[in-house]
Amino acid sequence: MLTAVQADLYLHHLEIQSNNPLGLAKFYSSVMSMQLNKVNNKKIICNGPSRKIIITQGNNKTLSYAGMVCRSEENLARFKSFLVQNQVQIQEFKSEIYKTGSFSILDPDDNKICFGILSDNKKLLFDGINGPLQHVTFSSFNVEAFQEFYEKKLGFQVTDRVVKIDGTLATCFTTSNHEHHTIACFKSAKKGMDHHSYEAGEWDHIKTWCDHFASHDIQLMWGPGRHGPGNNLFVFIEDADGNWIEISAELETVHGRPIKNWPQTERTLNLWGKAIMRS
Ligand SMILES: [Fe+2]
Repeated sequence: MLTAVQADLYLHHLEIQSNNPLGLAKFYSSVMSMQLNKVNNKKIICNGPSRKIIITQGNNKTLSYAGMVCRSEENLARFKSFLVQNQVQIQEFKSEIYKTGSFSILDPDDNKICFGILSDNKKLLFDGINGPLQHVTFSSFNVEAFQEFYEKKLGFQVTDRVVKIDGTLATCFTTSNHEHHTIACFKSAKKGMDHHSYEAGEWDHIKTWCDHFASHDIQLMWGPGRHGPGNNLFVFIEDADGNWIEISAELETVHGRPIKNWPQTERTLNLWGKAIMRS
């Protein structure tokens, strides 16, 4: 059996719903520097270098699922055994992106997380701006339940937590590999996706992204700044539906360090300036 961290899982793709799939896909094509592959009027796959967003007909600002990938079939099988032992409900999940044997689970807020092996490992011959898809975060009424499930049932590692003055959790960052977080959760008055993030790696790439956004008349909605937890540089924009997109750089790498608790202050969320406080 392997925990998520031992299995070394990474976030590979997201499926996001929109009531105007083509309109949203055109945003990702131009603003997020991706190529469109229209499957039909209700499903469009947006591909960039190390990033893939599937857009389907549905309710705006709704994540259908987050697609995680394991590089080893043996590790995926041993991770699945870990879930079975922990009595996590597992559903078969079929997708052209995965080889047969992929599966999905639902977290306590019914967010669907899928796990599988890539069916096609070829790198895209597409020269877009650097920014692999790297993490997704959720909004939740109950961050404690999020932590319990991801840490104890899935075997993610908790890296950092933001703790309210009354001792309850405002944020929990968890990882399934060496990156500071691959999935995190913010306490909020709503449930669903909070944001998703592309790891540009270096500050220079963030500058390239921002100049690219400016050329498409897209304003930053937050940043540039540096988060306390993860120590990453960031900027945020909104997509055509109002989903929050983060471009990040210098995200901390972790190898089994103890959990760090942070106070819920503006400075924790942004060492450089103003913060967007979710609750
Ligand atoms: Fe983020």
